[in-house]
Amino acid sequence: MAPPQANSGDDNDATAGEQSKLSPSGLPIREIPGGYGIPFFSPLRDRLDYYYFQGADEFFRSRVARHGGATVLRVNMPPGPFLTGDSRVIALLDARSFRVLLDDSRVDKADTLDGTFMPSLALFGGHRPLAFLDAADPRHAKIKRVVIGLAAARMHHVAPAFRAAFAAMFDAVDAGLDAGPGAVVEFNKLNMRFMLDFTCAALFGGTPPSKAMGDAAVTKALKWLIFQLHPLASKVVKPWPLEDLLLHTFRLPPFLVRHEYAELTAYFAAAAAAVLDDAEKNHPGIPRDELLHNLVFVAIFNAYGGFKIFLPHIVKWLARAGPELHAKLASEVRAAVPAGGEITISAVEKKMPLVKSMVWEALRMNPPVEFQYGRARRDMVVESHDAAYEVRKGELLFGYQPLATRDERVFDRAGEFVPDRFVATGAGGGASRLLEHVVWSNGAETGTPSEGNKQCPGKDMVVAVGRLMVAEMFRRYDTFAADVEELPLEPVVTFTSLTHAAAAAAGGARLRRRGV
Ligand code: HEM
Repeated sequence: MAPPQANSGDDNDATAGEQSKLSPSGLPIREIPGGYGIPFFSPLRDRLDYYYFQGADEFFRSRVARHGGATVLRVNMPPGPFLTGDSRVIALLDARSFRVLLDDSRVDKADTLDGTFMPSLALFGGHRPLAFLDAADPRHAKIKRVVIGLAAARMHHVAPAFRAAFAAMFDAVDAGLDAGPGAVVEFNKLNMRFMLDFTCAALFGGTPPSKAMGDAAVTKALKWLIFQLHPLASKVVKPWPLEDLLLHTFRLPPFLVRHEYAELTAYFAAAAAAVLDDAEKNHPGIPRDELLHNLVFVAIFNAYGGFKIFLPHIVKWLARAGPELHAKLASEVRAAVPAGGEITISAVEKKMPLVKSMVWEALRMNPPVEFQYGRARRDMVVESHDAAYEVRKGELLFGYQPLATRDERVFDRAGEFVPDRFVATGAGGGASRLLEHVVWSNGAETGTPSEGNKQCPGKDMVVAVGRLMVAEMFRRYDTFAADVEELPLEPVVTFTSLTHAAAAAAGGARLRRRGV
């Protein structure tokens, strides 16, 4: 990758000669501020700032402030040495410049899923999973077609499978809070346990992992995730210098998780047999083995890994919002679904505007995948709100999404959780225009995942699960309280009390506050 020189945009994106001082939309073209410092030492120092001395938000905010408010900056991204040969990225930290990353004609996303490092393919049976393939790679279209088909075909299993998982999860929460005065229950642990079964039931049906592999199924899945994501994790091992050495300096050797991955693969070979058979017949061109390893990745990394982070954020925002929002949600849910009736995706879609809005707002405030990367396909000009910047072909662009989706130039009170922000005010109303800028799925909320783009094919399923979570909660409970601890990967949410719905109590004498 060549170091950046002064302005010389390409034929497509910039105007030639002297006029190249202005971008196509008339913004002044500036040199990208920031820098990479001294090789090896600066990436190391930046990693420590990022993980331990500043944290991600402050890491970026302080650099934006240092460069006069510029939101396109040169920075080093962790993990750095020795996991990454090249830590240099161009960070896009506002809603406008971030959109370049969603344009597959401008960025190449081959091997950029995890950013500046690429996990060993030994973790994936020697194959490169779909999420690591660029949209222009012919294998991308072939595999994505199968996953899009799978997600659509299984959509009607989502609500029943979630209902079962939710009931089991919250029976366990209730039982935990009933254990005695002062009892509390951590949501994340239960979420981790029950959402693996949910994910497999929703996507494939059949015997859930907890039955096929026993309770250790979750441990195996988590271990495999850790072997891929350890360079991005922090605040899980104490003291921090030890953690930095263990997680951020060397690759954990894939052979240490080979056994667990083999068991997971054997499970999916059986659970997804019908999908594999169908693909062999109707979508020739992807070897069965390659598709199988892709399905393991889709189920455990893409889907389960996403739900593991997403649902604690939803519960976090509900906990922070308190009883007033809880009462509104409860009355919306209960008016839409009569007592004893089942909550369906279509009931939520048609009759629960506040539930829908609240979930979009949670996805805006905390996109579960915070980082997006892509390599410039050619020399180009990237525009932020007030300036434009030249980027060289091959440079790595990086978007820190929480700053892009909390951009004051797009959203009023952008840093605040406003549950009814997306309650539509009529066709074409402001709320639906704002959905353009909700981009957690690596695409606009108004867009559609396709074979030719990199948008998450689980988009509709994810939004449905978030909505079902909120609707099921406020059908079952009137209100709840929880403590929240923000950690880098996901917030830890601990229930301290839950108040069962008065209607349920009337039938079953269950009106009591638990855990207080
Ligand atoms: C809360 C849950 C989920 C979240 C937060 C999430 C988020 C994302 C994001 C951000 C990407 C793009 C990554 C990038 O290239 O930078 C992505 C891609 C992908 N997701 Fe999801 N996802 C979730 C659930 C699911 C589910 C349920 C499925 C199963 C159908 C799925 C399948 C995929 C696949 C296959 C890709 C790669 C798409 C491609 O390469 O074109 N995801 N997801």
